[in-house]
Amino acid sequence: MAIKETLDRIREEALSAIKAADAESAIEDLRVRYLGKKGELTAILKQMGTLPAEERPLMGQLSNDVRKDIEALIAERSSALRQKAQELRFKAEALDVTLPGTDPHIGSRHPLETVLDDIKEIFLGMGFNVAEGPEVEFDHYCFEMLNMPKHHPARDTQDTFYINDNVLLRTQTSSVQIRTMLAQKPPIRIISPGRVYRVDTVDATHSPIFHQIEGLVVDKGITMADLKGTLAEFIRKLYGADIKVRFRPHHFPYTEPSAEMDMECFRCHGEGCSLCKGEGYIEILGCGMVRPEVLEGCGIDSSVYSGFAFGVGADRITMMRYGINDLRVLFENDMRFLQQL
Ligand code: DAH
Repeated sequence: MAIKETLDRIREEALSAIKAADAESAIEDLRVRYLGKKGELTAILKQMGTLPAEERPLMGQLSNDVRKDIEALIAERSSALRQKAQELRFKAEALDVTLPGTDPHIGSRHPLETVLDDIKEIFLGMGFNVAEGPEVEFDHYCFEMLNMPKHHPARDTQDTFYINDNVLLRTQTSSVQIRTMLAQKPPIRIISPGRVYRVDTVDATHSPIFHQIEGLVVDKGITMADLKGTLAEFIRKLYGADIKVRFRPHHFPYTEPSAEMDMECFRCHGEGCSLCKGEGYIEILGCGMVRPEVLEGCGIDSSVYSGFAFGVGADRITMMRYGINDLRVLFENDMRFLQQL
């Protein structure tokens, strides 16, 4: 009766192992081990031939019963385990629709962009177009054609990063004046906002990268009165109708006469305060009447046309508007700063 004992042992072992299994994969292993082609039960069946003929039906019956018992328990345990796994998953995936949602983080415009946009808007309203030019620029457009040949002392204040002798990072958006005059005939009315570069050590008021807005008007009969009227109107639109401006003579190689324009301090209205450092006025831009040589260099007849140009520092305006006293915060992109605005 060795086979009967073996069958009983297999049944007992298999059933208790299946009961103890706690994962579907473990149950599958047991199924293979006991019922598989190379499993223990199959091995026994193969020995059936050695039994005397009258015992075979009995043993056959018994081994079928063992198989059925094992199969039944496997089915029961796997479905129980599957159900348990599903319950666990449902629990883990449970969604409490009554909880408040998490707000997605929505960024905001950089203050500098806001100021650039406001300035653009004002000039677009006065009939200007926006012109753009490359930040990596030819020396020719950035300096030479603006009446600043190589070795001109005015270049000293605008040292920059040279890609080679003739290509550099532009120090001023004035290069766009030249590009525009070469590409289009008067009447010209453009502003050109953009990033400019100069060799400078970073501190609270200096940065090797900053932003300018260049303006250029060329037409018949343009005079200094047009320059003054346009720029005064620009400041009134940006800071309010009661803000006065004043012009001080200055020098730029590409304009004659040249001036710097100051605006009355918008905080103290000329009294003198910490913002204007007691001056009552704040320097805001450089400007002048485009030199005939510069017009001629671009193929514009200076006996017919004249023009004015100006350059505004956008970073300064942004700092004043938001009460920022350190230029670096505009470039560091520290969320703690940006979120305040
Ligand atoms: N490019 C000058 C600067 O960076 C600003 C400027 C002055 C631009 C006079 C002009 C101008 O077009 O006419 O300081």
